[in-house]
Amino acid sequence: MATGEAATTASDFISRITADGYKAGMRQLAASVNVVAADFNGARDGLTATAACSIAAEPPQLLVSVNSASGAHTIIRKAGAFSLNILARDQEDIAKRFAGMDGAERSERFDLGTWETMVTGAPLLSGAVANFDCEIEQMVTAATHTIFIGLVVAVTSREDGRPLLYGDGKFTGLAD
Ligand SMILES: Cc1cc2nc3c(=O)[nH]c(=O)nc-3n(C[C@H](O)[C@H](O)[C@H](O)COP(=O)(O)O)c2cc1C
Repeated sequence: MATGEAATTASDFISRITADGYKAGMRQLAASVNVVAADFNGARDGLTATAACSIAAEPPQLLVSVNSASGAHTIIRKAGAFSLNILARDQEDIAKRFAGMDGAERSERFDLGTWETMVTGAPLLSGAVANFDCEIEQMVTAATHTIFIGLVVAVTSREDGRPLLYGDGKFTGLAD
């Protein structure tokens, strides 16, 4: 490096990344579409989320990443529990409803589909390819989001499940 030349730091690189550039890259990360839902003393809320993944099988733990500005964030935190519902290919209308994409009121989110409870009281969607009922084990604040780590206390899944996927900005399904 020549005398007087400033070293390039990580923050120099980061400052060149635009939100649009980041999102364009992330659009290529195809993923299953889920609804994360919670119930605190009868107040239910939920959101469509693709940021979910397995952590471990023993003990069974998974994580979801939820924007702290979303309505469901407060309910999940207060309830200390949440459900992760992996949507089926024919549940695109529910994905749109819980992403606020269909113009319905927040109070109408649970009007679509049949919702049940198992252990924690978090709403579980019938017909989903899998449902995980989770107690919150840990919360990690990361920028605009909270990563909720859940201990799975009940699980159901369908052997014939065809999951709903999201990739390249579109809802889609697995090829046959
Ligand atoms: C395909 C898809 C995936 C999404 N994934 C997430 C996610 O992982 N985490 C998140 O916080 N929001 C995610 N969102 C955005 C929320 O679903 C959306 O902001 C929702 O309206 C939040 O609820 P609110 O109306 O209470 O803010 C996603 C939206 C779509 C369409």
